[in-house]
Amino acid sequence: MKLSPSLLSADFAALYREAMSVAPLASSLHWDVMDGHFVPNLTFGPPVVNALRKRIDLPFLIHLMIERPAEYAPQFDVRPSDTIIVHVEAGDGPERALDAVASTPARAGLSLRPATSIDRLDPYLDRVSMVLVMTVEPGFGGQSFLPDSVARIRELAGRIGRRSIEIAVDGGIHAGNVREVVRAGAEVIIAGSAVFGARDRLAAMRKLLEAAQ
Ligand code: DX5
Ligand code: ZN
Repeated sequence: MKLSPSLLSADFAALYREAMSVAPLASSLHWDVMDGHFVPNLTFGPPVVNALRKRIDLPFLIHLMIERPAEYAPQFDVRPSDTIIVHVEAGDGPERALDAVASTPARAGLSLRPATSIDRLDPYLDRVSMVLVMTVEPGFGGQSFLPDSVARIRELAGRIGRRSIEIAVDGGIHAGNVREVVRAGAEVIIAGSAVFGARDRLAAMRKLLEAAQ
């Protein structure tokens, strides 16, 4: 299991320091890009993520919760170990969004809202390295995990079959539910408040890693 802390729950006044505080146990860092249209919240975009990209060596998972991912994906200065994740529901349509990600050096990821049928992913599974299953309604950190997600992860794992696509889960993950999502097939765990809400971030991450066993 890989742990990817979400900086959405970090202190935005100290993003570099916050990122470095979790680096020893993080497999990657998760950046929630929101545009106030696709979700009712605004965070940061390419200028902020690119500034941090220059100074941090960990892979970045860039989660685009925006209406026009095809337009903005090429504006991220990404590396081959990074992943740009677009939403299947976004206005551009997945085809154009995935084409835009393919024009960058990064891997492609596809995400879906909790109410979106996983059938919608089928036409694109051969084009992605990661599927990110939203386990809360996207937009805000600190929400409660939606229990129906476990069956969705299991179903998705079956559809992926032998393809090398990582399943990531995002939203409401904590030490009490991480084991069931990993058992259902999730390999990449994104956690915001469970990590940055703790005074000792590394202890919180160790607890998540141990609970997943
Ligand atoms: C929500 C974001 C998540 C969020 C998770 O829209 O996509 O990445 O940061 O935060 P927690 O772990 O607090 O639910
Ligand atoms: Zn996210």
